Parts: sequence; structure tokens; C-alpha cells
Amino acid sequence: MSESKLSVRHLIGIKELSVSDIELLLDTAVQFKEVLQRPIKKVPSLRDITVANLFFENSTRTKLSFELAEKRLSADIINFSSSGSSVSKGETLLDTVQNILAMKVDMIVLRHPSVGAARYLSEKVNTQIINAGDGTHEHPTQALLDAFSIKEKFGKLKGVKVAIIGDILHSRVALSNIILLIKMGAEVKVCGPSTLIPKLIQSLGVEVEYKLSKVLEWCDVANVLRIQTERQELQFFPSAGEYASFFGITKDTLDNLKKKIVLMHPGPINRGVELSTDAADSEYSIILDQVENGVAVRMAVLYLLANNK
Ligand code: CP
Repeated sequence: MSESKLSVRHLIGIKELSVSDIELLLDTAVQFKEVLQRPIKKVPSLRDITVANLFFENSTRTKLSFELAEKRLSADIINFSSSGSSVSKGETLLDTVQNILAMKVDMIVLRHPSVGAARYLSEKVNTQIINAGDGTHEHPTQALLDAFSIKEKFGKLKGVKVAIIGDILHSRVALSNIILLIKMGAEVKVCGPSTLIPKLIQSLGVEVEYKLSKVLEWCDVANVLRIQTERQELQFFPSAGEYASFFGITKDTLDNLKKKIVLMHPGPINRGVELSTDAADSEYSIILDQVENGVAVRMAVLYLLANNK
């Protein structure tokens, strides 16, 4: 494994990472993906390191992927979910974490519904923090695994045309992806209903396209986002059916394009809304490759941060 070091002690967001950090993370993930193809998938890199996975919000992929990555690296782990915990009795985030740290924990993986929760903790406790998603802000390991999957497919990120389609306004996946892809020289357009596109999104270096057919003809990769009804207090579009008729992608949509594009989705999918089942399960889709790559990418994050205390 590489002896190079990250410039950061915590992984709060893609915003804080340099181009070299991103390259180091992606290159290290390639090596861990090779380890994961072996009959014995476990390495001793994080032996005697204890990681606490603290999930204050629901998760399937991120939670299991971090847990598996930690086990593959031989870390000791503890898992915490806010449901069923003393959070329901009024215990604060900081009190919860300080109690867990009293049990001698070296690293924290945190998913939290509040924007800035990971940064707040990194400033309050003397333990390394990995952001596993903070509200509508950032989801850095998702952006890294998405970039890894694009690079695996195209051999590069520079110049690859990526369309991010759907609920951009509420999506931490969109923000982390945009920041990473622009840093690495990819071209990015966002597409969705005008009510779900943030007003100043162009300041991040992306273009806005409101017509799905136009953005699909332009792109090499369509990264389709979930409509996040749990974050939408207002009605941003009339109905799921109407959304699907304007922005939903079917296999026919993809078959009728002039070139073959790659279809991505961070999950969970609203089948029949942003993607039809025949599109999600088609030969265009690398959605399960993204999930597979997530373990190697998270191993790289844990390994490199552990070497950067
Ligand atoms: N992509 C993603 O973050 O999925 P989960 O919410 O299931 O972790």
C-alpha cells in the first residue's frame, strides 16, 4: 500500500480534499479492490483500531459498506443507531459521542440529518471523524465511490461528461459529486425540475439543462438521484407520475439514444419514478458495481486516515 499521506485528518467533505488527496484515495481503492477479489479478503491494516459507526439516520448501503470495510481491515467495531438509543431520552449528539469515546474508540463514522454535524464533532472531540452523510450537505464517500466507478469504466475522469439528474436541491450526493468531478476535470451538467435546482448552482462550475432528452444526448454518464420525499416539506412537483413522465428514465429512453451511456444511481431507487425497473436492471446500469466499489473505497478512506492521525 502507498506510503503517501492525505492532507486532512478527518473526512468531512470533498470540498476539503485536494486533487492529490482524491487521486491517492482512488489509487488506494484500486489496490483494496484487488484484495477483495482474493479468497482471503482480510488484511491486518487496522488491527487494534476501534471504529464506531454512529448512524442517526437510516442507511443500508453506507452502513453495511463501512462495516464490511472495517472488518476486511481487521478493525474492532461498534455500531450505534439512534433508534432504540438514549437519544430518545434527550441525550445530545456531543454527550452520546463523548460517552462512546470514553470506551476508547479511535475513529468515528457519522451519519446525521443535520448539516455540519461531522464538522461540529471534529471540532469538539479529539477523534478522527468520517462523514457518512450530513443532511443535505455532503456525502464524500458516495462521491468517491461514484468517481471510482466512472474511472473504472472510462479509465479517466478528465473530460468525461456527467449528467446529474433529479432532486439536486436536497441531495448531498449531488453536491459532493459536483465538487469532486469539477476538481478532477470532468464536465458536469445538472438536470431536473426548476424547483429542484438550486439558484446559484452554476457557481460550482456546472451547467443547467432542464430537458432530459438533451442532457442524455450530451452525457457519457447519467447519475440519477432519488426523489427525496422525506426532505421535501413543500410540493416541488405535482405528483410522482408527472415527475416520471418528464424526468423518469426507461430502458427505451436509453435504447433510443445515439450512443450507449452509463447509468448510475446512489440508491435507494424509487422504481417507477426516477428509473423504471427495466432501466435500473439493464446492461447500461452499473448500480451494483457502485455498491461493490463502495467497500474498496471505504477501506481506502479508513486506511489512509488511520495513517494520518
Ligand atoms: N447511497 C446511500 O447513501 O445509501 P444509504 O442511504 O442506504 O446508505
